[in-house]
Amino acid sequence: MRLAIFLVILCIFEYAVSVDHTNFKTCEQSSFCRRCRNVKPDNPKFALVPGTLNTYSDSITAELQHKDNKHIFSLKIEALELGNTFRLLVDEKNPLKPRYRVTDALKSEPKPGSIKVQEGEAEFTITSGPNKAVVNADPFRVDFYQNDVLTVSVNAKGLMTFEYLRPKPQQPAEGANDAAANEVKEADEITDAGAWEENFKSHHDSKPYGPEAIALDFTFPEAEVLFGLPEHADSFALKSTSGTDPYRLYNTDVFEYILDSKMALYGSVPVLYGHGTQRTAGVYWQNGAETWVDIYTAEKNVVSSIVNFVSGSRKSDPPAAHFMSESGIIDVFVLLGPTPLDAFKQYTALTGSAPLPQMWTLAYHQSRWNYNNEGDVADVSAKFDEYDMPMDTMWLDIEHTDGKRYFTWDQFKFPNPLSMVQNLTALGRHLVIIVDPHIKRDTHYFFHNDCTERGYYVKTPEGNDYEGWCWPGAASYADVFNPEVRAYYATQYLPTNFKTITTDVMIWNDMNEPSVFNGPEVTMPKDMVHYGNWEHRDVHNIYGHMYVLATFEGLIGRDPNQRPFILTRSHFAGTQRYGAIWTGDNMAEWGHLQHSIKMCLSEAVGGFSFCGADVGGFFGNPDAELFERWYQTGAFLPFFRAHSHIDTKRREPWLFTEKTRLIVRDALRKRYSYLPLWYTMFYEHEVTGEPVMRPLLAHYPTDKETFAIDNEFLLQDRLLVRPVMDQGVKKVNVYFPAIDDKKNGDVWYSVDTFKKYTNVGYESISVESDTIPVFQRGGTIIPKKERIRRAATLMKNDPYTLVICLNRAGKAEGTLYVDDEKSYDYRNGVYNYIKFNFENNKLDVNPIGKLKYKTPAWIERVVIAGLERVPKSATLIIDGISQQLDILPHGEAIAIRKPGVSVQQIYNIRLNY
Ligand SMILES: *[C@@H]1O[C@H](CO)[C@@H](O)[C@H](O)[C@H]1NC(C)=O
Repeated sequence: MRLAIFLVILCIFEYAVSVDHTNFKTCEQSSFCRRCRNVKPDNPKFALVPGTLNTYSDSITAELQHKDNKHIFSLKIEALELGNTFRLLVDEKNPLKPRYRVTDALKSEPKPGSIKVQEGEAEFTITSGPNKAVVNADPFRVDFYQNDVLTVSVNAKGLMTFEYLRPKPQQPAEGANDAAANEVKEADEITDAGAWEENFKSHHDSKPYGPEAIALDFTFPEAEVLFGLPEHADSFALKSTSGTDPYRLYNTDVFEYILDSKMALYGSVPVLYGHGTQRTAGVYWQNGAETWVDIYTAEKNVVSSIVNFVSGSRKSDPPAAHFMSESGIIDVFVLLGPTPLDAFKQYTALTGSAPLPQMWTLAYHQSRWNYNNEGDVADVSAKFDEYDMPMDTMWLDIEHTDGKRYFTWDQFKFPNPLSMVQNLTALGRHLVIIVDPHIKRDTHYFFHNDCTERGYYVKTPEGNDYEGWCWPGAASYADVFNPEVRAYYATQYLPTNFKTITTDVMIWNDMNEPSVFNGPEVTMPKDMVHYGNWEHRDVHNIYGHMYVLATFEGLIGRDPNQRPFILTRSHFAGTQRYGAIWTGDNMAEWGHLQHSIKMCLSEAVGGFSFCGADVGGFFGNPDAELFERWYQTGAFLPFFRAHSHIDTKRREPWLFTEKTRLIVRDALRKRYSYLPLWYTMFYEHEVTGEPVMRPLLAHYPTDKETFAIDNEFLLQDRLLVRPVMDQGVKKVNVYFPAIDDKKNGDVWYSVDTFKKYTNVGYESISVESDTIPVFQRGGTIIPKKERIRRAATLMKNDPYTLVICLNRAGKAEGTLYVDDEKSYDYRNGVYNYIKFNFENNKLDVNPIGKLKYKTPAWIERVVIAGLERVPKSATLIIDGISQQLDILPHGEAIAIRKPGVSVQQIYNIRLNY
């Protein structure tokens, strides 16, 4: 019986195994990509129609015309109220049918701000605050200036494409190839073989609306490096696409994905930034259709281009990007920075930030495809206790269900799910279960019957329910673009419906690209039809986003005052408002470990701060060293979950040697010690929109060496993390960045020894198997909790340690955010947000706003690194009353023992010499 089930699983799996890169299109194999890429620069086709400019207090409109086919398009430009951001829209003036506009990515419709318009001879200028957009009439081009510096040029290369919707040409009758027929041939006839129907492998795309591609180029005159455009398994800095395919954005379930590749992956976030020493700018290309992006940089390799720049030999053109989408309209946001953090915030001001998650979601997650049954779950949980390793969450993959029917349980493996959940809850732990969008076509399955009867499935062009093949076998897909379908799906989570779990169980949405094993490129055919009569072609990259939104609505609906946790694989711009992401089905290889940082950095600037990779690697069996290093790296990435494929060997940490187990335990404990910092950073992320995990250039924008660094990252501007990600190394080269062009830098302290690093440049640092090279920046104060517990939920009232690392001026500052770690009460002000300031040998502690959350937590230790001399003693002053405190050595720092003061008090601590 067991074996039979296993074989069935293997067979289905073999289906997916056969997927390799040849199952995914190249640009050459995609008609619209071919067409857009064939447009040659410096032959611009669009011009403003004279006399059509209309100016309003908050926008301009004008008409654009294609020079050959004379088709008319409408242009609209706004300067947004939020500042340093313009929006540019182009649509057909009178399209044959409406073209798709993305409506669900932005957190709300941004308000246009007031503008002034000045008309010149051949151009007009839109001024908004310190910024202006100069619109050149013929050829059409828009130059965006930030404080009089040309920062982004739109259509400077003249690569703009806008294929208007047209009736399908009649097949020429036999022998009709005469002069008359040729005359009908319009100047712009699209002759590409795939314009009206297209085949890929055995799949046919009927393309009822024909060619409708759009494309536009963006030049960044001030930039030396381009980055963004997640999700790709590639370097953080985007590479030139000259001689390769463009970067592709098309949400797909790629099996065993290739590294250093521009191939599409599970998520698509069409935001790209250009950065130079003087300024940063970005463009957000709001389009949900398949998109390819060509990158023009001086060199194939950003490192050598930077070398050229440094040596003063930059001869080439500034970097540029050419966005090409299959359908929809041109809807672009131009983000004018000028700093990297400004540009990131302009993007999150549009698409939102991740809301503060529950504390336990920032702790460690234990997953596997699959934990076999209730006994297995109980055993694994108990073993974490036996070996004194903290763990917060157990995960159940698809095998927990009754035949991949979501919202049901396998009666044999999981006969008492509620008891299992309650047992975990009693230990302070949580459960996350998977719910995927493929719905088993089974007339005994209520969900399938409901969707069928109510017409909730995505339809074929003929109006039937679309049927594909996925984990359950024959499957259909709920059309989550329909609000009624989302509402139906959301009600499945109500406790009255989903009786076998509690409201503490959270949800994992996988396979939501959507993955269709027998579909073209392992997904849904583009001519399927969604709510509102939109083709799947128009909305493909947004399907996963809408599915996560539906889950979010479900979790809020069942428990309005508990913050939902959702992990999703597919994502689009804005999905960060609803869930965390991980980098999908990676492999147990060192290269994949290295890519976990590159990929999460790129996601972080794309709005996804809550990002992680499967610790240990999903496919394959990591050896002990890779396993150890992966835990050490994962411990400093925002989302920290171990996960593995059903065919891999069991790899719970105690199945390795004692040495490995202790190294993993160390990494886990280190993660838990920093939970107050993670929580504070995520609170600040929600409020400011600034990413939690940051590339070095975010804080060291003038240091060119940082532009290509993606094996090292910052957590805010507080920690610098450079995990060991190479086999067998005894040393790593850590780069300490410069704050100016005179090679001045910050002071950094090892978080383990408090050894001080004061030089700018690469420093070779010795590492043992238990070393995680992490450095706290001088000038910061970090809150920690150092008591060992089973789970983060049990640390809620534990005392804090403050770690103060001084800068060269003997100063430091920091924050701590505290609330109930679970509910939305913080949105009503029920929290404590505390500011720490150290200077002149004195720590001052003051609230920011009101202290409204009552907690018994207190301060048990204050560590200070970077003091010139060891003080004799310390004095705590609270409400005018003084108290002497003891001082002990603490590595190369000192520790003030037991201030014993509540985190809710206002106090200061003075050092005495
Ligand atoms: C929950 O714990 C109780 C007490 O240890 C045990 O008897 C029961 O089998 C557990 N339930 C499950 C589903 O593991």
